[in-house]
Amino acid sequence: MNADTDAPLGILGVGQLAAHLVKGLRRAGVDRPILLLPRSRGIALELTRDWGCEIAPDKAGLASRCRQIILACRPADLPGAAADLPLTARHLVLSAVAAASVADLAALLGGDVSVRRFMPGISVEAGVGAIPLYPGDTRAQALLSALGQVIVAADEAAFDALTAATCAHGWFYSLFDSLISGLEAQGLAPEAARTAVLHHARGAAELCLARPDLRPRAISRDVAAPGSYTAAGLRYLEDGGVHARLRIALESVLRALRRPPAVTAGHPDLSPRSADKPS
Ligand SMILES: NC(=O)c1ccc[n+]([C@@H]2O[C@H](COP(=O)([O-])OP(=O)(O)OC[C@H]3O[C@@H](n4cnc5c(N)ncnc54)[C@H](OP(=O)(O)O)[C@@H]3O)[C@@H](O)[C@H]2O)c1
Repeated sequence: MNADTDAPLGILGVGQLAAHLVKGLRRAGVDRPILLLPRSRGIALELTRDWGCEIAPDKAGLASRCRQIILACRPADLPGAAADLPLTARHLVLSAVAAASVADLAALLGGDVSVRRFMPGISVEAGVGAIPLYPGDTRAQALLSALGQVIVAADEAAFDALTAATCAHGWFYSLFDSLISGLEAQGLAPEAARTAVLHHARGAAELCLARPDLRPRAISRDVAAPGSYTAAGLRYLEDGGVHARLRIALESVLRALRRPPAVTAGHPDLSPRSADKPS
């Protein structure tokens, strides 16, 4: 048995993200035991019933069986979740808790514990997407690479910027749905609208990934040639401030992530500064 990849994996805080992670790991063929320590048991019961997980009796039971523990609670719940977790220098804690820095985590968990931050998009459930990691760690990379493309951040500021990118991942679903609804409103069958939008989105991403020598803007310039229908639509979006709004949304998220006190904050305040309003 490989002590890192076959030994039980623990998850403390079992909500939406934990469910996406568990399903992604199982779908990727990861069959190591997964122990869950939830507060409310609803999602954890589903994961034990359908995805081969176990529920740990308590924090001591979780820490005694699992050397690798994922923290997946909300920032405001982190102090309570981390309290009295009996960890040693042999544990590796992988925190997905937004805005909790490595220093915050070390202060809460104890300085001897190895701590890494990661910030997956929910597409880890399908085994794809970017997974920022900080600092780099071969054990963490071995685990997370089953779920998507790991990006090791150069420093914590870069990790915060990559966290904002993970939030942008969450916006894509809404943008896709706007396009799907728009096509349905024109009479297209829902299945055709969905298939067209999602495969076009995947196709655009795949082409950009296949051509690392080109910035997406260069591809955009080619496809939206002057006088084309594509160009007319793109100009309408740009004139409407859509691109500027996306940049401002990213900056707003990043400012909120960097605003202390991080681990005790409630809902992020994304209220735009007046200077952020697109003209
Ligand atoms: N969802 C995403 O797309 C995503 C992506 C990347 C990172 N994240 C980060 O992942 C974290 C969790 O997000 P989420 O969307 O999964 O939130 P969530 O659905 O609210 O899940 C958080 C879970 O933590 C549990 N919890 C709170 N205090 C606890 C404690 N003391 N002991 C054990 N469990 C405790 C909560 O229990 P109750 O059910 O009783 O409240 C809840 O089930 C957040 O920090 C978020 O920033 C989320």
